[in-house]
Amino acid sequence: MGEINNVIEVKNLVKKYGAFDAVKNISFEVKKGEIFTFLGPNGAGKTTTVKILTGILKHSSGNVKILGLDAAGEMDDIKKRIGLVPDQPYIYPYLTAFEYMRMIGDVYGVCVEEQKKKIPELFEMFDLERRRGEIIDSFSHGMKQKLVISGVLLHRPEIMFLDEPLVGLDPKSARTVKDLFKKLAENGTSIFMCTHVLEIAQKLSDRICIINGGEILALDTFENLSKNVSVGADLEAVYLNLTAGEN
Ligand SMILES: Nc1ncnc2c1ncn2[C@@H]1O[C@H](COP(=O)(O)OP(=O)(O)OP(=O)(O)O)[C@@H](O)[C@H]1O
Ligand SMILES: [Mg+2]
Repeated sequence: MGEINNVIEVKNLVKKYGAFDAVKNISFEVKKGEIFTFLGPNGAGKTTTVKILTGILKHSSGNVKILGLDAAGEMDDIKKRIGLVPDQPYIYPYLTAFEYMRMIGDVYGVCVEEQKKKIPELFEMFDLERRRGEIIDSFSHGMKQKLVISGVLLHRPEIMFLDEPLVGLDPKSARTVKDLFKKLAENGTSIFMCTHVLEIAQKLSDRICIINGGEILALDTFENLSKNVSVGADLEAVYLNLTAGEN
């Protein structure tokens, strides 16, 4: 199996909920090692797209390839190689943080030696070490979010999907996550995230995809996006200009 350039290839993707088109014929690619950001108003179709790319939802039509595999028929193989941090960290409330991590490690076939080494490292990084023996139900939203991120990092996915990963994180944790994304991407992990935080999209992303009403309005580097609006425009100006009248 050769090295692939585009870890995600989406062609003419459509998602209908009944008669409503939540995603309307979108196409894009994500490169290996790229930080790719979906930005758009509430209801734009971001979460719907992430759910399709991670096998939670089936698309209505179009083609989706992840790591060269077809999402329509090879999702089981794809799922072993990707990680998802969903917008709501719904996780087993009665496991302790440590039990949760061991379960994730076992499900993804991470050897026990590596689990024993990595779990404390991840807990240290996210200030969870002290709470490792407590049940998840007793965790705050941000702590659950950090635990889900730790779980994904434990199995080293080739693509990380993160839907609003920084919602609820305190400034120090947000910093940790931002630094981590950069490091992961440098080492070849691809990152697909949805965010409303313009500053993060602007500073972190290699490319930004602005989506609204299920359609892609623009997809480019921040530098190129801002050139089209005005000299010195920041992402807020670009975003408001493109989504004018919507949000
Ligand atoms: N299960 C569902 N059944 C019907 N319509 C749905 C369903 N899930 C989402 N939608 C609709 O699809 C559209 C896209 O929703 P989606 O959750 O993808 O938006 P989003 O871009 O993630 O928004 P947000 O920024 O608020 O998270 C919305 O109009 C939403 O109401
Ligand atoms: Mg969403």
